[in-house]
Amino acid sequence: MECDVVFTAKEVTAALVLEKNVVVIDVLRATSTMLTALFNGCTAIIPVKEPEEGKKLLEKELLTRGEARENYVLGGERGGVLIPGYDLGNSPLEYTYSAIGQKKLIFCTTNGTLAISKAAQAKNLYLGALLNAGALAATLKKKGDPIIFACAGTRGHYTLEDVLAAGLIMHELKNQTENVALSDKALTSLVLYRYYENDLAKVVNFSKHAKVLTALGFTKDVAYCSQKNLFDLVPAYKQGEIRLGEM
Ligand code: MLT
Repeated sequence: MECDVVFTAKEVTAALVLEKNVVVIDVLRATSTMLTALFNGCTAIIPVKEPEEGKKLLEKELLTRGEARENYVLGGERGGVLIPGYDLGNSPLEYTYSAIGQKKLIFCTTNGTLAISKAAQAKNLYLGALLNAGALAATLKKKGDPIIFACAGTRGHYTLEDVLAAGLIMHELKNQTENVALSDKALTSLVLYRYYENDLAKVVNFSKHAKVLTALGFTKDVAYCSQKNLFDLVPAYKQGEIRLGEM
C-alpha cells in the first residue's frame, strides 16, 4: 500500500485527494476531540470552517428539521478558546456523555475542520489521532491504497504531534501487513514515531502548539491527546457529516 504524508492543511487540494483514502490528523486537538465526542454518544458531527457558518447552519437545521435546540451542540475554537455564542470549546474533556450524548455537533476549529473541508473529495475520508491509530490501520488495510495522511498543522506550519500520529498509524499498518510502500515524507514520519514510541507524551509536549495550550490552561488536554490507542473507533466523513464508520 502506497502511503504519503502532507504536513499542513494548506497543502491539501481536491486534485491531491481524488481517488485516495485520506486520514485527516489534528492531534491537538480537533480530531482527538471529535473522536471523544463520538465515543461519548454524539450522533454526527458537521464540520464547518468559520464560526458564523456554524451559527447559520444551526439556525437552518432547527428551521428545516424542526429539531429542538437541545439536540444540537455548537462546538469549537478560535485562538484555542471558546467561540462567543458557542456551547463548548475544543477541549476533548468537555465532550462527556452528559454534554454530547445523543446530540449532533456542529464543529468549527482553525486547522482541523479546515483540513477536513479541503479533503472532502477523497474516495474515503477518515479522522485520525494517536487515540485511534490501531483501529484506523485495520480499516486502511481493508480499503487498500493509495493512502494520504493529511496533517492539519497549525496555520500553514508543520506540527510535530500530527506527524507523530501519522508515523504511529503507519507503524500499526506495517504490523498488520508487509505490503506497505512509504514515500520519503511517510518514512520520515515513521522514523519520528519509532524514535519516541515509548515517550509519546514527552514528545507531544515539545511541540509549539502543546506549549500554547499549556499556557492557556489546557495541560490535561495535551496529556489526554498523547495517549495511544484509547479508542477502537474510526470516524468517517461522508456527504458533509462525520459518523462512526465501518471498522
Ligand atoms: C485546530 O483545529 O486548529 C486545533 O484543534 C486548535 C486547538 O487546539 O484548539
